[in-house]
Amino acid sequence: MKRSVTVVGAGPAGLTLANLIQQSGIDCVVLEKASRSHVETRPRAGVLEHRSVTMLESLGLADRLLMEADRHGTCEFRVNGQAFQVAYSDLYGGRQHYVYPQQEVVKDLIGAFLDAGGDIRFSVSDVELRDLMTSRPSVVWTSADGVRETVQSDFVAGCDGFHGISRKSIPDGVLTEFTHQHGIEWLAILAEAPPSTKAIIYALHADGFAGHMLRSPSISRFYLQVPVGTKAEDWSDERVWEALHKRFALHDSAWALTEGKIIEKRVLDMRSHVVEPMSYGRLFLLGDAAHIITPVGAKGMNLAMNDAATFGRALMDFYATGSETGLKTYSEDCLRRVWRAQEFSQWMVNMIHTDVSSPFFGRLAQARLEHLAESPAYRATFAENYVGP
Ligand code: APR
Repeated sequence: MKRSVTVVGAGPAGLTLANLIQQSGIDCVVLEKASRSHVETRPRAGVLEHRSVTMLESLGLADRLLMEADRHGTCEFRVNGQAFQVAYSDLYGGRQHYVYPQQEVVKDLIGAFLDAGGDIRFSVSDVELRDLMTSRPSVVWTSADGVRETVQSDFVAGCDGFHGISRKSIPDGVLTEFTHQHGIEWLAILAEAPPSTKAIIYALHADGFAGHMLRSPSISRFYLQVPVGTKAEDWSDERVWEALHKRFALHDSAWALTEGKIIEKRVLDMRSHVVEPMSYGRLFLLGDAAHIITPVGAKGMNLAMNDAATFGRALMDFYATGSETGLKTYSEDCLRRVWRAQEFSQWMVNMIHTDVSSPFFGRLAQARLEHLAESPAYRATFAENYVGP
């Protein structure tokens, strides 16, 4: 089989790229390890920035999203029993966040790609990338029916996430890896509870961070900072609600937290990872295959889509004019945005967490929040970074 581009992985990065290049007449095949129903129902990230939505809209891929997504332009911080809000949308040109689960994005992108005649192979296994330093690399896999197949292409897009095969196919010593273990763990809780707030809440408390995120009118997502090494089983439902009530509590306010049935509890390890460069010969890495960011600031899915847009433009230019400029600058262009997002996420991690082993950092977090509450200039910078430039 021959195609111009082979896309490994059908997550937001791979599917955005596949739609983008298919619309420009560049043929591709998408290889996905999981089944279609699995990728269309797997809960992951849930926040899209204005810029990502504009890009999807320009490709005609945002119809359902624009109808169904909740828009958010304000968030709330709580510290020492006091709350303050930041109307970040008003501070940054009216740009908003769109709350739309990643699995719905994936469903929309698969539907659009297949409707336009696209080729996705689900449930593939034993994917191998070969001859990446030549102008005709190949990818070999075992199909869902157990047949070993091969595609030759001009380019391979490695969009198969952090645990995928693409990054691992690059010989040792080529990539520089930047890793940071934040020493912070969150208990992520999903509850059948209507939201107790209209704006996302980030609470700094002496016991640790608590977050109230929004999902739907009947489901809420909560996060609790828990000691490193904690097991989800150590946290009974009663203990979870007690901690949430305590960490969100406000002096002088009748605000109340609505409880509900807890349907998911799992521990998230906070880490960051970036590789440089994001390419090797004719293999280009996109999304989580090249960079992992903490959930703080909700940048993950947006970075994946930015990589797809940048690589898609480079491919269109290459096939239209023969120019390799965009391909050569792909890594540098994406990494600039990746590092800016990492810097913001780290800044925010330091602002909303209590480091129980070093109370000094707890005080710094409090000082940063007080600065944000008091200074319009500081809030404007936060808004620019939070809702995306
Ligand atoms: N072969 C084919 N497909 C693979 C392989 C493989 N060897 N390994 C993994 N995959 C598939 C996964 O099953 C998944 O569907 O690649 C896809 C990668 O998708 P994501 O992990 O969602 O990565 P990406 O598209 O880069 O999107 C990043 O995911 O973790 C979130 O916050 C993150 O929102 C961000 C987004």
